[in-house]
Amino acid sequence: MPVVAIQTILDGKYEGKSVTIRGWIYRKRESKKTIFLIIRDASGIIQCTVKRDNPSWAEAKRVTKESSVMIKGTAKQDKRAPGGYEITVEKLSIIGLAETFPITKGKGKESEQFLRDNRHLWLRSSRMNLIMKVRSEVLRFTHEFFRKEGFIEVSPPMFISSACEGGSTLFGLKYFDKQLYLTQSAQLYLEALIYSLEKVYCVAPSFRAEKSRTIRHLTEYWHIEPEWAFADMEDLMRVEEDLVSYICQRTAENCKKEMENLGADISKLKAVKTPFPRITYTEAIEKLNAKGFKTKWGEDFGFEDEKALAEEFGGPFFVYAYPRQIKAFYCKSHRDNPDLVMSTDMLVPRIGEISTGGAREDDKEELLKRIRELGLREEDYEWYVDLRRYGTVPHVGFGLGLERLLTWMLDLENIIDSIPFPRTIRRFYP
Ligand code: 4AD
Ligand code: MG
Repeated sequence: MPVVAIQTILDGKYEGKSVTIRGWIYRKRESKKTIFLIIRDASGIIQCTVKRDNPSWAEAKRVTKESSVMIKGTAKQDKRAPGGYEITVEKLSIIGLAETFPITKGKGKESEQFLRDNRHLWLRSSRMNLIMKVRSEVLRFTHEFFRKEGFIEVSPPMFISSACEGGSTLFGLKYFDKQLYLTQSAQLYLEALIYSLEKVYCVAPSFRAEKSRTIRHLTEYWHIEPEWAFADMEDLMRVEEDLVSYICQRTAENCKKEMENLGADISKLKAVKTPFPRITYTEAIEKLNAKGFKTKWGEDFGFEDEKALAEEFGGPFFVYAYPRQIKAFYCKSHRDNPDLVMSTDMLVPRIGEISTGGAREDDKEELLKRIRELGLREEDYEWYVDLRRYGTVPHVGFGLGLERLLTWMLDLENIIDSIPFPRTIRRFYP
């Protein structure tokens, strides 16, 4: 008999029928005459009952929490059972008997620290199961969106020889007898690829030697980055808001059950519609000063500034036209006001920045001037300057942090729950 997924039973497809399921013991409770086993598989959980006169009684007595099992029985509706269905067990086979499982009580009872140290086991919790499913769907919607828009997926390198986002967050590593780094962003490589493919994107890890211990910082995160030719800031913001609203709408439609079980607010996602509000950096500073923040024009926003700004909008919005001194060397300046660059951040409530993008300096002399002004080594960027030498083209791109997006979408308290094995300054085990 074929093995069925627990969710299909909960959907009512096997009412009164004989079924076989495979999974793990999630909970166990005994009375004199009955043993109640809650079994979980990837799709869901279901209660299975074993009666005293059943030949599997001894196995049911012996089986422990988190043992893997195969169960054959009859599915029937039962309002008292969690999920509304139950299996009356005919045969229980233990596949792998578990030793005493260290996580006994579940979230809320055990300390955060303990669950993080036991991440490899905590991933079995229904909470992590649901988050990982939504994460997978968000990735699917991302790929759907870019393919629909005619972007070609490319694979950038992870070993790099010079910084994209400044030296302070670069992870160095020994590469044979050379000093290399882990990539902070695929951007510079994507820029090279647009001269062949015009519209490209990638979803790849980025690494930041980030000392900040906040709810929004990882040292290794997944970066959604498109880059395309013959485009300006208007094109950039349109694609960016279309992507984010597409992901939110598709998730609201397709991950309803997961969102509900996670206690996340679906209406917030449904409300994400284009166009997103846009304010300039200068307007943002004025707003902050009106709220009593001391941030001055020319300074970068801190986490508190971003949260205060975002409170007003209730959903994603853009801040654009930043002072040149707080943005990266590759940003294109406004030709009528060289103090400003064509750069934009997308912010959301509670998390602040989820994305940065902009128009890239496409003039060779301007780019070289910027590289020199910032004291970067010209020879490190020779290949990058070449792109302006041979058929330069106005182009734009952005980088969206997958985990920051998920943390906002799912109302997670901390970014570390949006990725299976989070890496932070202190956390690299398991
Ligand atoms: O703002 P960033 O540094 O921009 C870039 O890397 C550009 N080169 C992207 C591009 O234009 N292609 O990083 C982009 C996004 C941030 O907005 C944030 O969402 C995420 O990457 N990010 C992090 N996410 C988690 N932990 C960190 N330490 C992050 N650093 C950046
Ligand atoms: Mg940024």
